[in-house]
Amino acid sequence: MKITEVRHPLVRHKLGLMRAAGISTKEFRELASEVATLLTYEATADLETEEVVIDGWAGPVKTHRIKGAKVTLVPILRAGLGMLPGVLELIPAAKVGVVGLQRDERTLQPTGYYEKLTGRMDERTAIILDPMLATGGTLVATVDMLKAAGCKRIKGLFLVAAPEGLRALEARHPDVEVYTAAVDERLNEVGYILPGLGDAGDKIFGTR
Ligand code: URA
Repeated sequence: MKITEVRHPLVRHKLGLMRAAGISTKEFRELASEVATLLTYEATADLETEEVVIDGWAGPVKTHRIKGAKVTLVPILRAGLGMLPGVLELIPAAKVGVVGLQRDERTLQPTGYYEKLTGRMDERTAIILDPMLATGGTLVATVDMLKAAGCKRIKGLFLVAAPEGLRALEARHPDVEVYTAAVDERLNEVGYILPGLGDAGDKIFGTR
């Protein structure tokens, strides 16, 4: 499985700021978005382009544009929404499909309660957004959903990933490409990433 831990100095610096106890909602939200922008730059480096000739100021000029159907972004509710503005900074024309999952009380498996995907999924690269890749259960279920909708190329952007979540993804969907600002140490007994960021959804939305 392709895992890219983006070690750019700006990413490391900004993630370091996000780890501080007592960070404000404003700061955390801004940094989540900024790190998402930087991860997007890495994750889109291999998008295919095609040559086109356009009318330039001095006559016809050969230039490049991204080939094929537009990328689709897939934020996972709710924390994934915190990364969306930063990703849209770089891909303003991206289509956005949203998924929501919750744990089934009986099976303890994540099941979808909301799914609104874009059309032509079979032609698009999907980029899943979720700040925290923890156990991987939600991610695996999201990838199941995207593949069921016909999606063939899937990438995931995470601010922080746990080794346990990466292993779970590799076991079920080794073709998914992962971009993260950090692979942290481990999960604690209630599924939080250590050292991690705490509850990313609460920090982005200012709830608790
Ligand atoms: N979700 C979070 O918000 N934080 C974690 O550490 C794990 C899952």
